[in-house]
Parts: sequence; structure tokens; C-alpha cells
Amino acid sequence: MFHSKIVGVGHFVPENVVTNHDLEKLMDTSDEWIQERTGIQERRFYTPPEKGSTAKMAYKASLIALERAKLKPDDIDAIVFATLSPDFYFPGSGVLLQHMLGMGTKPALDVRAQCSGFIYALSVADQFIKTGMYKRILVIGSETQSIALDLTTRGRGMGVLFGDGGGAAILEATEEEGKGILSTHLHSQGEFADVLCIREPGTNEKGHSVYENQHLQFDKISPQMDGQLVFKNAIKRMPEVTMEALQANGLTPADIDMFLPHQANLRISQMVQKFLRLPDDKVYNNIQKYGNTTAATLPILLSDLWEQGRIKEGQLFALAAFGSGFTWASTLIRW
Ligand code: ACO
Repeated sequence: MFHSKIVGVGHFVPENVVTNHDLEKLMDTSDEWIQERTGIQERRFYTPPEKGSTAKMAYKASLIALERAKLKPDDIDAIVFATLSPDFYFPGSGVLLQHMLGMGTKPALDVRAQCSGFIYALSVADQFIKTGMYKRILVIGSETQSIALDLTTRGRGMGVLFGDGGGAAILEATEEEGKGILSTHLHSQGEFADVLCIREPGTNEKGHSVYENQHLQFDKISPQMDGQLVFKNAIKRMPEVTMEALQANGLTPADIDMFLPHQANLRISQMVQKFLRLPDDKVYNNIQKYGNTTAATLPILLSDLWEQGRIKEGQLFALAAFGSGFTWASTLIRW
């Protein structure tokens, strides 16, 4: 059986830096509140005149990943694209990226698992590679969240948390044992779907045409969240699913060289780190710079570390995520 090895990663974020002080001018919030509750100092938003999209960020991130892997778009067999903020309601952003990269008629599919999206996408790609169906797959996490955020006091609970960004990873088949993605572990619990969601445009219990609904309500088109319930579940599920991955591979937290937690809140990351008893130099956070970039978070973390020369052959990386759905997931990667 084949295994999947990551041979290149890349990321792209819009140029426009939005600091907490910038948000203070738009809503009743403070740098102190945001930093104390979340650790976030700044994030990137596509703001005019800079124009972009979820697929365009993915394209730029993919070019970097391809260059680092010394590959061309032609070398890629398929795209798995994770996002909750696609360019269109349908089709997904995967096909747009496929066209931008000039990949002929190669397949592209979108994955909708929100903050866990990148690990879900890695898992889908890994299965294609294990069975021998594809040799190289481009896996994306990319989000343009700024367009859905209400940046007034009314929307401050969500507005300060999120940022735009895109990340890419290229998986390649290898026959080397014990290398690459060791395993992936996926969970979901749909009873909590409306605890963190955007309702419109949706089909849930409509009984009428969308054209009749001319006055979309604010609470339906903007993201809604019960933050404390999400927080409580995140600090339980992320350590749990990391331990599940370690146990499945006969490993313990002491074997981890680098832990990458999904970046929803620095306090969540710190609590998960404490549970796993990991020292600071084995955990990497960048929420301070980018906020929560949902499916893009984990590939951006990987690409950041790649740029810093902090990914070394033989190291064991553990990735864990939790988010809307609820969905949660983990993976272990041996470089
Ligand atoms: N600035 C100032 N005050 C604010 C802000 C703000 N931006 N937002 C909310 N407040 C106020 C509230 O109105 C509330 O005021 P009140 O006490 O007078 O009613 C007070 O601050 C406390 O609000 P809480 O929501 O209780 O604050 P909490 O400590 O829970 O922190 C947070 C909120 C940061 C959102 C936290 O709950 C959290 O991180 N939750 C998890 C987020 C997460 O993991 N999301 C999953 C990923 S996202 C995805 O999957 C798409």
C-alpha cells in the first residue's frame, strides 16, 4: 500500500493588515478585550482596492507549494479544496482553482468541514493515494471570511475573531514505511450544527422560494455562535482526538516534535497544550498575526514553519482541529 508524504506547502494572505486598534474605530471593542480573550493582535482582510477571492488565494498558495515541491500543475492528479467561504454558492472553489492552474480536466472536489476542513481534506486525499488511484494531490484550505463579518458593535462577538487567508499542501505517494501521514481521525456531531453557523442562503425548513425572501435578517446571513459552548467542546475534543491518533500509532505526547492546534483562540491552544503536557517549543501558534482563518489555519501554520526552516526530516507533527458542525479531527505526520 502507498502512503502520502507532504512534499510542498505554501500560503498567501491579503496585504491589508487589520489591527485590533483598527476594529476599535468600527465597533465598541478594545485591543485589551480581544488580546485577553483570544490572543489575536491583527488579521488580514481583503479590503478595496485589494481584490481577491478564496480560489485566488488558494491559487497563489498553490504556486508557492508547487515551487517548493519542484513540481508543475501538470504533475498534480486531483484537488481537494476545504472551505466554508467559496467563491460561488455553487460550484465549489476547487474547480475554479483547477481552471486557474490550467489542469485540463483533472478532478476537483470541495470539502465542507469548517475549521476541521483541512484535516478532513488531507484524509480524503490520503485515501485516494493509499489505494493507488492518484499519485499527487493538491490539498487546500482557503477562506475569505471578511465579507460575512458584521464589523459593527452588533457583530463584535464574531467580527474580531476571523481573518482571510489560504494555504496549500501537496501530497505525494511513497512506498516508504512509517513516513508521511501516519493516520487521520475524523469526528462530527450534527446535533450542534446551529451552535455555530450561517443560515442563509440555505434550504432549511423554507417552504417558500428564496425570491420571496427579500429581507434577509441580519442574524441569518451573519455567522452566529454560542462561543462558550464551542470553547468547552473544543478544549475537550482536541486533546481527545490527539490522544486517539497517538494511541492508534503506539505513541505518546512525549513523541511529538511539533503540535499544531487549529487557531480559534490562543486560550484554547494553551489549554490543549497543558492537557498534553507539551513544552512551549513544541507548539506553534500564529493566531496573533492572522486570527482564525478556519480551514486555512493548519496549512498556513505548516507553511510558516517551512519558511522558518523548522520542519526537519524524521520529525513527528501532530495536527488537531475543532469547529462548526461540530466537527473535529487529528492527524500525525512523520516528515
Ligand atoms: N469586544 C468587547 N466585548 C465583547 C466582544 C468584543 N469583540 N465580544 C463580546 N463582548 C462582550 C459580550 O457582549 C459579553 O458582554 P456581557 O457580559 O456584558 O454580556 C462579554 O464580552 C463576554 O462575552 P462572552 O461571549 O461570554 O466572552 P467569552 O469569554 O466566552 O469569549 C470567545 C468569547 C472569544 C468567542 C470565546 O467564547 C471563544 O473563543 N469561543 C470558541 C470559538 C471557537 O473555537 N470557534 C470555533 C472555530 S470557528 C469555525 O469553526 C468556523
